[in-house]
Amino acid sequence: MTKIVVIGTGYVGLPAAIMLARSGYTVVGVDIDKKIVEAINNGVLHIDEKELQELLNLQEVRKNLIGMATPSQADVFMVAVPTPLDDRKKICDLSHVISAVESFLPYLEKGNLVIIESTIPPLTCREIIIPLLEKSGLEVGTDILLCHCPERILPGNVFEEIVHNDRLIGGINRKSSLAAREIYSSFVQGDLYLTDDVTAALCKLMENTYRDVNIALANEFALVAEGLGVDIKEAIFLANKHPRVNILNPGIGVGGHCIPIDPWFIKEVDPKHTNLIMTARRINDEMPEKIASQIRKKVRDLVKPQIVALGAAYKPDTYDIRESPAIKIVNLLREDGYQVELYDPLVKEYAYDSLLDVVEGKDCLVVLVEHKKIVEELESNLELIKSRMRNPLIVRFYL
Ligand SMILES: NC(=O)c1ccc[n+]([C@@H]2O[C@H](COP(=O)([O-])OP(=O)(O)OC[C@H]3O[C@@H](n4cnc5c(N)ncnc54)[C@H](O)[C@@H]3O)[C@@H](O)[C@H]2O)c1
Repeated sequence: MTKIVVIGTGYVGLPAAIMLARSGYTVVGVDIDKKIVEAINNGVLHIDEKELQELLNLQEVRKNLIGMATPSQADVFMVAVPTPLDDRKKICDLSHVISAVESFLPYLEKGNLVIIESTIPPLTCREIIIPLLEKSGLEVGTDILLCHCPERILPGNVFEEIVHNDRLIGGINRKSSLAAREIYSSFVQGDLYLTDDVTAALCKLMENTYRDVNIALANEFALVAEGLGVDIKEAIFLANKHPRVNILNPGIGVGGHCIPIDPWFIKEVDPKHTNLIMTARRINDEMPEKIASQIRKKVRDLVKPQIVALGAAYKPDTYDIRESPAIKIVNLLREDGYQVELYDPLVKEYAYDSLLDVVEGKDCLVVLVEHKKIVEELESNLELIKSRMRNPLIVRFYL
């Protein structure tokens, strides 16, 4: 029976562990966070994914999957730990990947397959992971197989995407790719494309950079339209009537765990050829300041305006607040001395009971994140909401 140890059981590792357990593999989910290990062993999903919780409730999954604080011997080691941006150096912080690999080195055996799912700069497998693995005395490529298989799932829709998305299998040699393909084909219904580790890493970074650059373009168009007094939504709608144009929607900035971070990993390996990429990064990073100044303008005639900001998540319909531009905007306003209360119906720490109570006596309601729930509340109660406010000023962006 093939045994798979998944190191790091967060948004990426836990769904993979569950899918592999459902496919019949014996799976050990390893995490340094004891609460996560406990939750796995109690059959409780610590991420908000309904279908995955249903899978975790299945008897065969409970039987095949256990949580542990440390790795053990296995046939396959899969690494899905964070790779954040080192904020000062603007390079990938590989410390979690390195300590994850070091943690299973004592258990490595001839014939093992190592899969890196974490997002990493190209060349990381060759320059960092291989020398680390070879400290075991085993040779990578012959004794041990190694693959980089980046993940593309979208939090909130993980079950659908982990099964149906196409995947890249980046082996350091063909034998490694074939071995990893066998593992993924147990649950992936999308196509599995075999490539090498460097190409796989670059593709993953290109995907998120493509999004970042195109969002920056839409954001820049929005700023130009604002100066011209043009309705950007209408302009984009009309421009997209061109058969080969597809401009994205502008926004208040780019957040989350991937898009604002991954472009830096390209710069890290080739700073000379990332002018456009870095300009896009800067445009998107400056959006919160631009939006904050639009809000300042809206409230400038009010004395000591009391502002309610709605939406703390990094984008609509998620509870994830990592790198959230909405929170940056609120902080910028607060630094200026504005009184701003922040609420989000999807984020526990910013939740509210009644929007009507929240806006009572306030001067300005700024909708930063258009969650479906917020839009519904506004549509069904707009007049009542306005009637509760001291000044019925509601600010929304790019609608
Ligand atoms: N979240 C996403 O939507 C997404 C999508 C695609 C790719 N990725 C990439 O996948 C990787 C993992 O991201 P995530 O969102 O799952 O992160 P996460 O923070 O949700 O989960 C990572 C887990 O790893 C654990 N961990 C850290 N160091 C460890 C170690 N040495 N040993 C054992 N456990 C350890 C943490 O406690 C945490 O539970 C990152 O490289 C990320 O960029 C994430």
